[in-house]
Amino acid sequence: MSFPYQIKSFEDYKASYKKSVDQPEVFWGEIADNFAWKKKWDKVLEWNFTEPKIEWFKGGKLNITENCLDRHLELSGDVPAIIWEANNPTEKSRTLTYKELHFKVMQFANVLKNNGVQKGDRVCIYMGMIPELAIATLACARIGAIHSIIFGGFSAQAIADRLDDAKAEFIITADGAFRGAKDIPLKSVVDDVLIGNHTVKKVIVYTRTRVPISMIKDRDIWWEDEVEKVEAQGNPFCPAESMDSEDPLFILYTSGSTGKPKGVVHSTAGYMIWANYTFVNVFQYRPGQVHFCTADIGWITGHSYIIYGPLSSGATSLMFEGVPTYPDAGRFWDIVDKFKVNILYTAPTAIRSLMAFGTDILKDKNLSSLEVLGTVGEPINEEAWHWYNKNIGKEKCPIVDTWWQTETGAAMISNMANVTPSKPTYATLPMPGVQLALRDEQGNIIEGNGVSGNLCITFPWPGMIRTTYGDHERCKQTYFSTYENNYFTGDGCLRDEEGMYRITGRVDDVLNVSGHRIGTAELENAINMHTGVIESAIVGYPHDLKGQGIYAYVILDGVHHESEELTRKDILQTITRIIGAIAKPDKIQFVSGLP
Ligand code: PRX
Repeated sequence: MSFPYQIKSFEDYKASYKKSVDQPEVFWGEIADNFAWKKKWDKVLEWNFTEPKIEWFKGGKLNITENCLDRHLELSGDVPAIIWEANNPTEKSRTLTYKELHFKVMQFANVLKNNGVQKGDRVCIYMGMIPELAIATLACARIGAIHSIIFGGFSAQAIADRLDDAKAEFIITADGAFRGAKDIPLKSVVDDVLIGNHTVKKVIVYTRTRVPISMIKDRDIWWEDEVEKVEAQGNPFCPAESMDSEDPLFILYTSGSTGKPKGVVHSTAGYMIWANYTFVNVFQYRPGQVHFCTADIGWITGHSYIIYGPLSSGATSLMFEGVPTYPDAGRFWDIVDKFKVNILYTAPTAIRSLMAFGTDILKDKNLSSLEVLGTVGEPINEEAWHWYNKNIGKEKCPIVDTWWQTETGAAMISNMANVTPSKPTYATLPMPGVQLALRDEQGNIIEGNGVSGNLCITFPWPGMIRTTYGDHERCKQTYFSTYENNYFTGDGCLRDEEGMYRITGRVDDVLNVSGHRIGTAELENAINMHTGVIESAIVGYPHDLKGQGIYAYVILDGVHHESEELTRKDILQTITRIIGAIAKPDKIQFVSGLP
């Protein structure tokens, strides 16, 4: 594939940026011409931020899987689309070429159809990091079903809430998942989700860990059996459903400042173009490169930079089932060495935790294939930036610091590898199409350089959130009401003397723990559900590894607790049940009044 819209120099960046502001419709129309459409759009952009209503490529018809799979078959059918490395390094890795992935996606799309999944239906996917997760995701997109992927670390209650909110009738899961030294009993969690549930029609279960699981007649079916049935039907083909540009592609739940997670809805055409455009430009992707994004597909980073960005570019996307420290802290570097990874995209938390193990572990690893490094998810501190640059990039690889959010779909502020300047701890400059403003508490725009304020976006970009599922008012209130006619990010931001942007962290009630967003209200709700707790307050505090740690102040009713230590453990257990272990506070302090 060639990318005529790939920016090649700083001058080119400045010209592209200017055009994206002066003539946004011409700019994005020319880029969109490089994709596969069933029908071209009538109008590039219609929008207002008051409702809000945002429509990109209105009237266009397409299917994202044709862009991610079919269009690569002729020239790149034998190129690896996904390389998969298992949790256990002794297990054989797997490679799926574009031809093979295309075949498997169509096959599983037929499984979905055989089981009654239709265009517009919501399908929850709760799996570990195995190729079948990508296959299931793309199969949904193939037939126009809306996927809602739930990270494997969420509890039954958290899944039930998301299932309910999305009114999903189908779940795709696996018996279990391998993650580091732990096995996660996915199906058993799903069984807890479904106690008393009468709306879920089908649960499709892939075999990964082969732990004993319960399979309920007429509801639970094995992935492998269903694939056999499709094979027996003898039709390997599944047409790509014709989707409107603005049809929802997926829902992804994220924590906000109220107790309930919200379902961020992304569109088909705008999201695809944004994921692709940013992938090609930020990482300066060249055909043949191996791209390793270490995120989980359960988060937006995995959606955009394991699946849709790389695959729409015909790239080879490396998918890793495990964790950076298993079986030892050299695992990422072994993977880079083994698969000759060219682009490595990870989170500051991972870098900091690996830094703590020292550099001895790097001695026998060959990292010479690396060309570009990236970070995402939280501000990166100077020390981690320099460690990454020196020990992993050997001072030869640019580090792209990509600032973005679940709601923005893909990277918004970032340097472009070897093309635009980088600056440690700075996300640097906005992508073309991203018009920024810093505002003060009163809503005034803060002009000039060497200033800080609340980060807003004043003009639509193709990959932006369209609504919060089932509750458009919430989308309006959360993002478009703080500042009139602006999208408010919830982040604080500095613009330095050179006009470079540095994100300073959230200014709302959301914590960023190891790059994961946790709303304080959601966590307080979970703690308050514990018997014996009267009230609680959550605050973040600086944490060496996680960026932010969670500190919980809790008022007990003074009746139930035998020992404070036991009560603490009970509260942690309650949180694990209600949200998942990722939300466990680092410290719980019992107090008589809240700060
Ligand atoms: O505070 C910002 C931080 O992560 C938040 C978005 O979290 P989430 O929706 O989970 O998406 C994470 C992956 C895109 C932002 O509001 N954040 C993300 N990237 C950066 C960052 N903070 C500083 N620098 C970044 N590069």
